[in-house]
Amino acid sequence: MKAILVGLGGRGRYWLDQCRKQRDVNVVACVEPSAQNRERAVAQCALAERSIYRDLGAALAAVQADFVLDVTPPAIHEDIAMQTFAAGLHLLGEKPLSDDYQAAQRVVKAGTQAGVAHMITQNYRFNGLPRTTHRLLTEDLIGQVGQLDVSLYVNWADSPGSHYVTEPYMFLTDMGIHHFDMMRYTLGQDPVSAHALTWNLPWGWHQGDAAQMILFRFANGVVATHRGIGCTVGHVPAGHNGEWRYEGPHGTLTWEGFDLYHTHSHRADPKIRQQIPLDDDGGQDQNPVLREFVAAIEEGRTPECNAADNLKSMAMVFAAVKSAIEGREVSIDEL
Ligand SMILES: NC(=O)c1ccc[n+]([C@@H]2O[C@H](COP(=O)([O-])OP(=O)(O)OC[C@H]3O[C@@H](n4cnc5c(N)ncnc54)[C@H](O)[C@@H]3O)[C@@H](O)[C@H]2O)c1
Repeated sequence: MKAILVGLGGRGRYWLDQCRKQRDVNVVACVEPSAQNRERAVAQCALAERSIYRDLGAALAAVQADFVLDVTPPAIHEDIAMQTFAAGLHLLGEKPLSDDYQAAQRVVKAGTQAGVAHMITQNYRFNGLPRTTHRLLTEDLIGQVGQLDVSLYVNWADSPGSHYVTEPYMFLTDMGIHHFDMMRYTLGQDPVSAHALTWNLPWGWHQGDAAQMILFRFANGVVATHRGIGCTVGHVPAGHNGEWRYEGPHGTLTWEGFDLYHTHSHRADPKIRQQIPLDDDGGQDQNPVLREFVAAIEEGRTPECNAADNLKSMAMVFAAVKSAIEGREVSIDEL
């Protein structure tokens, strides 16, 4: 399958490497408007200068491809998506779908009308912890979950000048989207509202708020909290995964560091404190997101993390931002 890779920044160079490892994917062209980033990609990634175009239109006119892999900043995603759909190509787009909810809706509609596969790279949910948790909750191990609490303490995005530090609410939008998507995925439920408080700590390096407390209410009554600081310079207990705690009538499922535990300790019942081995994640020699995208196209089915589904995770982001700005609980229906 032939791909055009758009954007050769930090993440774009990562995706070039992932595509090269994928047996059935061949990157036939790249797109990068910045001369500095083109030179860096040529020097570091063994790319031929002539295979890098200045804009997507020029690449589409010059090469035959099956899909576009968009690794540009969020504000550019709509433009890349519309050009891709107009050319009739499939699209694998980096998260977040957009930095604007109405733009995200337009993109999803255009992809559906074009009849192409359109997937968003919510890679976190493909890891062993969320995969195994999703299975155990589906199997009812702890009964109907009543509450989910997530805490995330990270030293996040500290490169000076990048959009991660100059744009508002980036910790909530760019990092939070992974966690909100994993909430929906593991619970198998969609939220109905968000209530958020955000602030910044005096030593933080982000211009936007990088600390938050968000409460989501889900359709079946589950309450989920997301407590995070993106500018800690201290202990980071669980990387970018954070620590998760699912409360049910038959105990808890907890993510402790990178391990999963089932605990039940009520005096009326036998005590359980058991580490649960993580399900096989299919091996990491092939990127699981890329593998799912290619398989869905080959099998003529809708991929997991398709853009229409991703819009529901995006709704959590935009409801939380609106709530933080307006200082009130915001219903998803208001967006
Ligand atoms: N899934 C993950 O875990 C993960 C991790 C990091 C980044 N990301 C996402 O990847 C995307 C890119 O992030 P990044 O850190 O590489 O950003 P970056 O700013 O380092 O790179 C973006 C690149 O896109 C190029 N670009 C800008 N406009 C363009 C256009 N019109 N056409 C072609 N190229 C254009 C820029 O010149 C730059 O080289 C973002 O959406 C980000 O959220 C995802």
